[in-house]
Amino acid sequence: MERITTQALAEAFIDEKVKEIKEQVGDKKVLLALSGGVDSSVVAALLIKAIGQQLVCVHVNHGLLRKGEPEQVIEVFRDQMNANLVYVDAVDRFLEKLAGVEEPEKKRKIIGAEFIRVFEEEARKQEGIEFLAQGTIYPDILESDGVKAHHNVGGLPDDMQFELVEPVKLLYKDEVRVVGEALGLPDNMVYRQPFPGPGLGVRCTGAITRDRLEAVREADAIVREEIEKMESLPWQYFVAIPDVKSTGIKDGKRYMGWAAVIRAINTVDAVTAESVEIPFDMLRRMRDRIIAEVPGINRVLWDISDKPVATIEWE
Ligand code: XMP
Repeated sequence: MERITTQALAEAFIDEKVKEIKEQVGDKKVLLALSGGVDSSVVAALLIKAIGQQLVCVHVNHGLLRKGEPEQVIEVFRDQMNANLVYVDAVDRFLEKLAGVEEPEKKRKIIGAEFIRVFEEEARKQEGIEFLAQGTIYPDILESDGVKAHHNVGGLPDDMQFELVEPVKLLYKDEVRVVGEALGLPDNMVYRQPFPGPGLGVRCTGAITRDRLEAVREADAIVREEIEKMESLPWQYFVAIPDVKSTGIKDGKRYMGWAAVIRAINTVDAVTAESVEIPFDMLRRMRDRIIAEVPGINRVLWDISDKPVATIEWE
């Protein structure tokens, strides 16, 4: 199959998929978990073009998204594309379930399981859903030996097994991005850096607290804004705040605060990764802004570890 590398090829692909989706779905309703990531966003935009209001998008805000993400999903899909979008504020639910949980894999499991529960509840509120759309892409199929292609990824219960609609399942990530651009999605959505499913949860190490999570979100937004001034963007760049306090001094008084850790890496396949050199004046600017704008932080560190032995994320 020809790879989708140009706007013209993307437009031909979109026309073909719109036709196929209309044929597959008819006048029935389709459900989609819309995270705001590249794959689910492109699938949403394709389906909106094909079947409009017959698509029900569910955006679950689990409280671990980056600054501005839920707002952008609402703005792009509900306001600009007139999508049938259900926004679920599940922040309290997730944070209550995660309270006191320190072990990274346990945190991941809780986040994954709670996500399915919230999505299932919303799905049950909808009448007449017959299809489930998914942003499966070709590497997902290769990696899972086809398993993901045949099952509802979410692990929905047996009485909720819908027929799948997977319009980008034969595309690689770079092709999905070209299609997203041709569908009119904003650049910062289509070309955004990879972001893990458990989100800021694995960057707020140990037991997540609301104040430290807020600090990660704010510091991360500052670092993204500054790093995006670089000519060539790193593969991933973000902030982690370990669950450790150290001594600081303010108005002559000593107090305990957190350290924000800046991380920027390049990689080809995320199996190995190299720390990216950040110019010192940029580091200084990020330090000054984080200290001035983010409550609770009294130190800023730069993580120059490569993978291996460090992983990309802190958990
Ligand atoms: P590590 O930290 O293992 O990360 O070097 C490799 C890549 O995977 C991402 N990552 C995740 N993605 N769920 C995800 O969807 C996860 O639990 C998860 N953990 C790590 C990480 O951001 C990096 O791109």
